[in-house]
Amino acid sequence: MVKICCIGAGYVGGPTMAIIALKCPSIEVAVVDISVSRITAWNSDQLPIYEPGLDGVVKQCRGKNLFFSTDVEKHVSEADIVFVSVNTPTKTRGLGAGKAADLTYWESAARMIADVSKSNKIVVEKSTVPVKTAEAIEKILTHNSKGIQFQILSNPEFLAEGTAIEDLLKPDRVLIGGRETPEGQKAIQALKDVYAQWVPEERILTTNLWSAELSKLAANAFLAQRISSVNAMSALCEATGANITQVSYAVGKDSRIGPKFLNASVGFGGSCFQKDILNLVYICECNGLPEVAEYWKQVIKINDYQKNRFVNRVVASMFNTVSNKKIAVLGFAFKKDTGDTRETPAIDVCKGLLGDKARLSIYDPQVTEDQIQRDLTMDKFTWDHPIHLQPMSPSTVKQVSVVWEAYEATKDAHGICILTEWDEFKTLDYKRIYDNMQKPAFVFDGRNVVDVEKLREIGFIVYSIGKPLDPWLKDMPAVA
Ligand code: NAD
Ligand code: UDX
Repeated sequence: MVKICCIGAGYVGGPTMAIIALKCPSIEVAVVDISVSRITAWNSDQLPIYEPGLDGVVKQCRGKNLFFSTDVEKHVSEADIVFVSVNTPTKTRGLGAGKAADLTYWESAARMIADVSKSNKIVVEKSTVPVKTAEAIEKILTHNSKGIQFQILSNPEFLAEGTAIEDLLKPDRVLIGGRETPEGQKAIQALKDVYAQWVPEERILTTNLWSAELSKLAANAFLAQRISSVNAMSALCEATGANITQVSYAVGKDSRIGPKFLNASVGFGGSCFQKDILNLVYICECNGLPEVAEYWKQVIKINDYQKNRFVNRVVASMFNTVSNKKIAVLGFAFKKDTGDTRETPAIDVCKGLLGDKARLSIYDPQVTEDQIQRDLTMDKFTWDHPIHLQPMSPSTVKQVSVVWEAYEATKDAHGICILTEWDEFKTLDYKRIYDNMQKPAFVFDGRNVVDVEKLREIGFIVYSIGKPLDPWLKDMPAVA
């Protein structure tokens, strides 16, 4: 029986290993983590992450060929294939702070593998890492290996949160990079055999190590670039009377461009896009390519611009002040179908509104009050892009309440900001909401989920990203 161990039981390690266990009954899969609370949750009925379809898969395999454990060293030493799926956040201090990837967790995992291994192993980079990381890891492993053979593979993960199970079951592609030596090719084949249990052969791509590592950063940069492109267009739509939904539909009909990932929004969030582009920018700078670095940095600058623009639009529309006004915030997660709030645009928008002394009533179906308070009070690292707002002071914390229902959040509010595209926000009883709000009642739709015409008929003043402006908004000060 092949044994797989995955170091890191997070958003990637958990779901990915659950699907391998589901599709490969003859493989024993252990997912290990240093976080006791995470492993306890994986072994309970309340999994540590919300992901549609995940509960069912875990229930089917857990205790049979899928195990979650804190006994990291035991499972690593017994495994034939070790996936490393630890977090690789942006460095917050020292050389490359604010841009470079922090590989502390990666390095400590590699050193631990070298220490505890007693047999040959394939070590798989699952985390997103800077191109050339495999070289560094190889050095750590071979210098400490006591004669044991390690083969390093790069197998970046392309799943998106909220659709992780679907993405894992039917991936567009699986990418495996390895050394171009006979041993390297043998290791690639061993991992290919695992995925081939459910992924069609033509979707399993094999490359050299550096192409695989760089393809992951490149894919995220291209995806984020599409959103910044459409968001940049949304500002021009508002200025000209064009409608971003019509424009992106027309643009996406070109088969060379395609229709997906062209939804204008309050800005992209999530743990990957910003971090990975910053990392790409840093790598370009280190390789003496400042123009290329500047090109990709612009994707993040437009994202900051979009979040700022949204806050300014809210404040400008409401007579240039939201001081002491109740604003309902519907949605806090960085996208629907997840409880993840990492880099969610809601953090910047809420901090911006609090900066103008608004009172916030926040509702998200999957995010807890604790999480929201932590996100709003946490200091964001500062670097050279414009949004680096201060953490909330104790008096500002009092301006935030978190509730468990949209109707409660909107009661007596002056305005509503929709910041996540949860399906339930499309079908709310907006007439009932309108009747219970202060007048004039505003809706600022940061995700283009509401029926603008219907809401205007009810009486709302509606702002929807990139859509022709409400006459009311046209008379208000220009925003940038
Ligand atoms: P995460 O923070 O949810 O999970 C990482 C886990 O690793 C944590 O539970 C942490 O406790 C554990 N860990 C850290 N050091 C450890 C060690 N030495 N030993 C054992 N456990 C350790 O992160 P994530 O979202 O799962 O991301 C993991 C990697 O995958 C990152 O590099 C990320 O860029 C990449 N990625 C993420 C996504 C996504 O959608 N979240 C998608 C593709 C790729
Ligand atoms: C992303 C990549 O899609 C995935 O392939 C990679 O493995 C990890 O990073 P994720 O961050 O989980 O996945 O979600 P994604 O669906 O890409 O959304 C990222 C952000 O972009 C969200 O805030 C989302 O709301 C926003 N977005 C997405 C838009 O604003 N408009 C769009 O058209 C699509």
